[in-house]
Amino acid sequence: QQEIETNLITADLATKLLPLRDDDSHKGNYGKLLLVAGSTGMTGAAVLTARASLKMGAGLVTVGIPSSVNPILETKLTEAMTYPLAETRDGSLDVGAIEQVEKLMSSRDVLAIGPGLTTTGEVTTVVNKLLTKIEEPVVVDADGLNVIDDLEILKEREAATILTPHPGEMSRLLEQPIKEIEVNRVAVAREFAVEYGVILVLKGSRTVIATPTGEVYINYSGNSALATGGSGDVLTGLITSLVGQDLAPVDASIIAVYLHGLAAEIGSEELTKYSLVPSDLIDYLPQAIKAIE
Ligand code: APR
Ligand code: MG
Repeated sequence: QQEIETNLITADLATKLLPLRDDDSHKGNYGKLLLVAGSTGMTGAAVLTARASLKMGAGLVTVGIPSSVNPILETKLTEAMTYPLAETRDGSLDVGAIEQVEKLMSSRDVLAIGPGLTTTGEVTTVVNKLLTKIEEPVVVDADGLNVIDDLEILKEREAATILTPHPGEMSRLLEQPIKEIEVNRVAVAREFAVEYGVILVLKGSRTVIATPTGEVYINYSGNSALATGGSGDVLTGLITSLVGQDLAPVDASIIAVYLHGLAAEIGSEELTKYSLVPSDLIDYLPQAIKAIE
């Protein structure tokens, strides 16, 4: 088995990559984001992604959500705008959403798709079509990953693609048992990133980030407080926010993963690893940013 060179994600590296904010700036400098997320029973995923992206400094955030749950998002989110998307009778995305998202993206810098979307209705068609049509960077997570039906479309994309699977989602993408992925996380992530030309963020304790050129970064921040539904949605918001702030997708992923873990460490000092929930993670983000700024 050949040795793969890996880079450790350190506080120093995160500090070096963190984008500065010019006093003479406006919201247009910090990215216009579209987050396609949420559905009946999973509006929380959309809320966590949106709140995390705002808290990481995004300029303007719009959440695209199946129309029947739009009022819920309007209530829960203050700073983010929402956009009701076409839905099928079961409340998941309809193919009509493809054109709506394309239109919205004509004035946006980055798309995130997947948290809490479900995999029913026309979600598969919507996600796969958007991956071929959208010319801006795209972050694909959760149900977005669960419905990718042809990995070849990833190779065709010219803009950056960031995939953020947990081992279960990776297992489906690769059609390999989770066990084989877990014993070989670095090699698996690297091989996938190189073959499909994507930034692959393979999550878990010790998240691995691999790039299309075969660089690998390993993160050691974070703890078991993150092992609760919704932590991944927060990470998607952080990555998308930093891509919107014009960071290279790999740099955005590095900072996001590091700060996500650091916020969990700082937060669990006070709240314990038992009681820290993903919303708290967002509340502790400023302290994590302060620690590396
Ligand atoms: N140590 C450090 N980090 C951890 C640990 C741990 N012990 N456990 C989890 N994490 C981190 C991961 O690295 C990742 O960033 O928490 C996050 C968990 O993300 P997901 O596995 O995506 O979990 P989440 O998204 O919250 O789950 C909700 O989304 O992806 C779907 O199928 C998933 O239904 C589930 C839903
Ligand atoms: Mg997840």
